[in-house]
Amino acid sequence: MTTNPDHKQTGAGRFAVDRLVKDYLDFFRARKHEVVSSAPLLPEDPTLLFTAAGMVPFKSFYLAPDKAPYRRAASVQKCLRAGGKQSDLENVGRTLRHHTFFEMLGNFSFGDYFKKEAIEWGWELSVDVWGLDVERMWISVFQDDDEAFDLWAKHIGFPADRIVRMGREDNFWGPVGDTGVCGPSSEMYYDTGRGGEDGSRLGDPGTEDRFIEYWNLVFPQFFYTESGSYDDLPRPGIDTGLGLERTAFILQEAPDSYHTDEFLPIREAVAQALPDEATRERAGLALNVASDHVRALTFALSEGIMPSNEGRGYVLRRLLRRALTKMQPFGVKQPFLAPAVDVVIGKMGGRYPELLGRGDFIKEIITAEEERFLSTLEQGMSKLESILDKAAGKGGGRVDGGDAFVLYDTFGFPLELTEELAEDRGLAVERAGFEAAMAKQKERARRSSFHSASQEIDTEFVELDTPGGGATVFEGYENLSCEATLCAYRVQDDAKNCRVDLITDRTVFYAESGGQVGDTGTAEIGGERLDVVDARHDGDRVVHSVVWPRGGKAGPGDIAAFLGDNRNVSLSVDAEMRLATMRNHTATHLLHAALRTVLGDHVAQAGSLVAPDRLRFDFHHYQAMTDDQVSEVERIVNDAVMADMDVSRRTMSYKDAVAAGAMALF
Ligand code: SER
Repeated sequence: MTTNPDHKQTGAGRFAVDRLVKDYLDFFRARKHEVVSSAPLLPEDPTLLFTAAGMVPFKSFYLAPDKAPYRRAASVQKCLRAGGKQSDLENVGRTLRHHTFFEMLGNFSFGDYFKKEAIEWGWELSVDVWGLDVERMWISVFQDDDEAFDLWAKHIGFPADRIVRMGREDNFWGPVGDTGVCGPSSEMYYDTGRGGEDGSRLGDPGTEDRFIEYWNLVFPQFFYTESGSYDDLPRPGIDTGLGLERTAFILQEAPDSYHTDEFLPIREAVAQALPDEATRERAGLALNVASDHVRALTFALSEGIMPSNEGRGYVLRRLLRRALTKMQPFGVKQPFLAPAVDVVIGKMGGRYPELLGRGDFIKEIITAEEERFLSTLEQGMSKLESILDKAAGKGGGRVDGGDAFVLYDTFGFPLELTEELAEDRGLAVERAGFEAAMAKQKERARRSSFHSASQEIDTEFVELDTPGGGATVFEGYENLSCEATLCAYRVQDDAKNCRVDLITDRTVFYAESGGQVGDTGTAEIGGERLDVVDARHDGDRVVHSVVWPRGGKAGPGDIAAFLGDNRNVSLSVDAEMRLATMRNHTATHLLHAALRTVLGDHVAQAGSLVAPDRLRFDFHHYQAMTDDQVSEVERIVNDAVMADMDVSRRTMSYKDAVAAGAMALF
C-alpha cells in the first residue's frame, strides 16, 4: 500500500477524512457528475425512519431518468442506520467497522452509464488515486452475474481467485423502504490481515472484520412493487456507496474506524469522563459505543429530531440510553456527552454547516436526557441484574416479558436495550409477554382517557347493498346537514339504551381525526330523531354512533328490522359544537406558533386533543417551561385571537403547501 510517511505524525496526512472526501468528489466531478450536497437525515419519504443510504434522495430519478435534473451525480451523504429494517445498532461497538451515523460517498447514474464504468472508476480511484494494495483487495459479485465477474476478471484483469460469487443476502441491494429500486451488486473489500487464519478467504465465517467491505457498487435494474414483483426499470442505473469511515480506517492504517483522524478526537472527548488511563483501556467498547452514539445524536438533533417515546425520537432515546448503560459500569454517574458534541461540531461543521450555531441547543437537550435517565439508571441496572439472575436460575434462557416491561416502564430501559443486555448473558426476552404488558397499560390509559364515547363495539356490521356505498363522501366543509343513504349498521344492546352505529354513503359529520373529536348532532330515520354522540373513521367510511332510546319494546331485533326498511337518513351537525371545536382547532395552531417563538423551532406537534370545550397540545421540550415562558406564550396567543384575523381553507398539493410556507407535520 502506498502510504504517506507523514500520516503517522499528523494522524492521517494525505488520507485525512477531509482529503478523502475531496478526492472522491473531484474524481467524479471530472467525470461529469453533478456534485450534490447531503440531504437531511430526516427523509422526505415517510415510510423511512432516516436517510440510510446515499441513493435515498435520488430514488425517483431511477424511475424516470428523463425527468432527472442530471444523469450523473456524486455526493457525500449523512446516513443513520439505527432503527427499522436497516439497523446496524447492535453491531456498533462489537465490530471494527459499524456505526449508526456514518457518511456515505456515492456516485450515481440515472439511466446513464452502467456496470463497466462503475467498476472501472471504482478500481481507478482505489488503486491509482489512493494506492490501495491490489494484493490485499477482494471482490464479490452476485452469484449469477457473469457480466460483473468478467468485467473484473477480463476487463480489469483482477485475479479471478479473489473474485467471490455470493448470494442474495450479500450481493443484492434494496429496496430501501417498502418498495423501490434494487438490483445485484459487486462489493470491494480490503484484507486488513487481522482475524481469521492465514489463507482465509472472503466469505469464510468469522472474517467480517478482516475483509472490510468498503465500497458497494449496486446495479439497480428493478423496481420492487407493493405486490412483490420485480419490474424492469426503464433503463438500468448505478448506485454506489463507499463507507467514508471504513475507507479512512483502511487508508490511515488505523486499528479500527474509531481511530481515524476525524473520529478519535470525539472518542477522546468521551473518554474524559473516565478517571484514568487504565479504566479507558478497559472501557474500549463502551467508548466506541458512546462516541458513535453522541455523533448520531448531534446530527439528528441539529435537524430538530427530538428524543421521545416513539418513532424517530424513540431511536434517539435508545441511542442515548444505550451509551449511558455501556459507560455506567465504569463509574460514570454524571452527564458526560456534552464536551463530545463540541468536538463533533468542530470536526464536522465544515462539511455540515447545519451543525454550526446549534451546539448549545444540542448540548442542553442531550444533558437533560442524560440527567433524566441517570437518575434511575443505577437502580435500573441492579433491578436488571436481579431479573437476569432470576431468569438464569430458572433455566430455559428466557427473561419474563413482564419483567422487561417493569424495566421499561419504571426505569426507562427500552426493550431493545434490555434484550441486548440479556443477550450478553445468553438470555432472550419474551417479547410477547412484554407486548401484552404494554397493551394492557395502553388499554388502561385509553379507558381513563376522555374518549369514552369512541370505545369500540365488537359486533360485526350488517352490510346493506346500497348503490355507490363505498367510501363515505365528506361534505361537512361546505354544509352542516345532508341527506344520506344507509350502507351498514350494527346494534349493541346495553339494557337501558341500544347503541347503534350507522355508516352512510355521505356525511357532514367530521370524524375524529388528528386529535379533533368527532362531531355531534342528529340523525333522522323514518321519523325517528336520534342523537349522534360520536363520529369516527372505520377505514375510509364514517361511523355515526346514535343512541336509540329503548322506550317500550324496541330491542336490537326491532331496530335491525326498522333499519332494513328505512334507508334514508337526514344528518345534521350541531353547529354550536362544530364552531367551538373549530375555534379550539385554530387555537392549537396559534399555540404551536407561539411555542416555537418562545421555546425554539424544535417544538413540533406530537399529538393533540381538540374538543368543543377544551384543547390539549402535546410537544417535546427538553425541560419544564418556566412561568415566564408560559405567560409569554399566553400573551402571544391572546394577541393573535384579539387581532381577529381571517381564517380560510384551501386545498392544495403537498408540494405547493410547503412552498407556500405551510408546516408539514406528517
Ligand atoms: N445503496 C447502497 C448501499 O447503501 C450503495 O450505495 O450500500
